[in-house]
Amino acid sequence: MVAISEGLATHGYAVVADYFDARMCQRLQHEALALPTDAAAVDAGIGRAEGHTHAADIRRARIRWLDSSTSAQVEFLAAAELLRLALNRNLFLGLLGFEAHLALTPVGGFYARHIDSFAGRRNRIVSVVAYLNDAWQAADGGCLRIWPPSGTDHPPDHPTRINLASFDVRPESATLVLMLSETVPHQVLSSLRPRASIAGWFSARS
Ligand code: OGA
Ligand code: MN
Repeated sequence: MVAISEGLATHGYAVVADYFDARMCQRLQHEALALPTDAAAVDAGIGRAEGHTHAADIRRARIRWLDSSTSAQVEFLAAAELLRLALNRNLFLGLLGFEAHLALTPVGGFYARHIDSFAGRRNRIVSVVAYLNDAWQAADGGCLRIWPPSGTDHPPDHPTRINLASFDVRPESATLVLMLSETVPHQVLSSLRPRASIAGWFSARS
C-alpha cells in the first residue's frame, strides 16, 4: 500500500492488477451487466448533481450509483474505506467522502478525454477505478488511456498534445487504478465489447 501511495504521489496515478477480490468482482460484474444498454439509456450524466448534463458525444455508458443495496457493493465500499484510510495515512490527503457508480459501457461506447474534478461542494481529489471484465483482449479496445501530469501540460486541443506520452490500461477484472482527480487527464477508448467497471471518487468533504 505504501508503494501504491508513492506511485500516486510521484506519477499522479497507480495501476495494480489483481487488487480486488475476484469473487466480489464477479458479483459486481453481474450487477453491471444487468444495467440496461438500450439506446435511450446509455447517456451517462457528466458530473452528479452539480452541472449534470447528458452528452452522448462525450460519453456513452450506463451507470448506477452504489448504495450498499447488495453484499458485493458493501464489500466494495469496505475495500474503498481501507484505501481511503491508507491514502490518508501515507499521503496526508485528508480524504473524507466517497461516492462510486457501476458503469456499463456498451459496444461502441467510450468516454472522451477529461479530468474528474469539477467545481462543487464535494470536489474530487482521488479517482478510483475497478474493472470487472474477464479475459479482456487488446482487440476488445476499451482501454483506459492516462496522460501522466507534467508541469508543461497542454490543453486538450493543443497541437503538441498528441506527442505527450500516454499509458493504456486494459480493463481486466480486479485491476485497481488510482488517479489524482484534478491533474490527470484520461479517456476510455472505444470499446468493442460490453465493458463493466466501477468509478469512484474520494473527496475532501464527506
Ligand atoms: C470516469 C472514468 C474510467 C474507466 O468514470 O470518470 O474515467 O476506465 N472511467 O471506466
Ligand atoms: Mn474519469
